[in-house]
Amino acid sequence: MTSTDIELVKLSKNYGSTPIVRAIDLTVPQGEFVSILGPSGCGKTTTLNMIAGFTAPTSGQIRVRGVDQNGVPPEKRRVGLVFQNYALFPHMTVKQNVGFGLRMQGKNQADIDAQVKKALHSVHLDGFEDRYPKELSGGQQQRTALARAIAPRPSLLLLDEPLSNLDLKLREAMRIELKDVQRELGITFVYVTHDQEEAMAMSDRIVVMQESVIAQVGTPSELYSTPRSTFVADFIGKSNIFAVTPTRAEAGIHHIEISGTGLELLAASPEPDQTEIAYCSIRPEAARWIEGRSRPDRPLNILPVEINKIVNLGAYLEVWCRHQSDTVIKSLISAARGAHLKPGVNIELTIEPAAIKLLSK
Ligand SMILES: Nc1ncnc2c1ncn2[C@@H]1O[C@H](COP(=O)(O)OP(=O)(O)OP(=O)(O)O)[C@@H](O)[C@H]1O
Ligand SMILES: [Mg+2]
Repeated sequence: MTSTDIELVKLSKNYGSTPIVRAIDLTVPQGEFVSILGPSGCGKTTTLNMIAGFTAPTSGQIRVRGVDQNGVPPEKRRVGLVFQNYALFPHMTVKQNVGFGLRMQGKNQADIDAQVKKALHSVHLDGFEDRYPKELSGGQQQRTALARAIAPRPSLLLLDEPLSNLDLKLREAMRIELKDVQRELGITFVYVTHDQEEAMAMSDRIVVMQESVIAQVGTPSELYSTPRSTFVADFIGKSNIFAVTPTRAEAGIHHIEISGTGLELLAASPEPDQTEIAYCSIRPEAARWIEGRSRPDRPLNILPVEINKIVNLGAYLEVWCRHQSDTVIKSLISAARGAHLKPGVNIELTIEPAAIKLLSK
């Protein structure tokens, strides 16, 4: 059975009278890779700094393996840290950098050497012991910083946008490496990022933050398939989001009108209540292009549209389609299948009622 590693209970932080983090509740099991994802300024770093012990909460509790951390200084928390500007010591070799925390802990040289070797092996830097930071690439420097953080064998690693200084290719490669290292070591990772792709690619669970509160917590696929607000639907992946007016409901099917357009759609959704429905979210891949012969048996939500614009995404096309009601819906179509599509061409889209997510205000 996995045990609980971190528990945040009604954790809050104010600066002056401004709430920066408001009553956050979160439980992280041992060995989980959890990301805190949200736009700039929503309180991610502040939350991480409270877990690390650098920032005192205004109220609420942080428990690590059941122990209240109130009053426990950062160096006693057995927490490793990796930050965006990971600041390796330039005058120290890789080996000295990675051994730094262990020397601070007063370990003997034989133990330091063994733990440094192991940490460097985990990040695939065997043989780099005697290099200086300036002799390393950006990715190697970042891996050295990671090795430095894991060498003292923390049970918990806090990472604050550790990849944001790297170029896209390297960032993508490092995502996979970080996830592999985490899995191999079984360390709990709390990973802060504002990059939703990064969070989706690595996390067991994602905590989406919005203006100092948690908007939603879930696995990447839960957040993608069942966003609970327009904010989450928009922040995780792409979505067509429309203000809607519910007209009637029968047998679990909601009839909704895209507000002010007269366009009616059928949505099969258990929640929210009819009275609460204010928006709908439709993923572009759920707005499927049908050609005459592949018409669905149940002719639900069939929309004749005219192509307005085509954005080439490489393997896929994002096709902007305008319905006569003036509603524009983006549809994702494979580039091979849509090769002959052009602006001005009329096509039909279909949307499964279950793929229309209804959202409250
Ligand atoms: N020491 C401080 N004193 C006053 N306000 C602060 C302090 N630290 C942070 N803030 C404010 O708290 C808010 C949240 O900051 P935080 O650094 O947690 O955001 P973030 O989500 O990490 O953003 P980013 O993605 O830009 O790093 C910001 O509006 C910031 O200006
Ligand atoms: Mg930050």
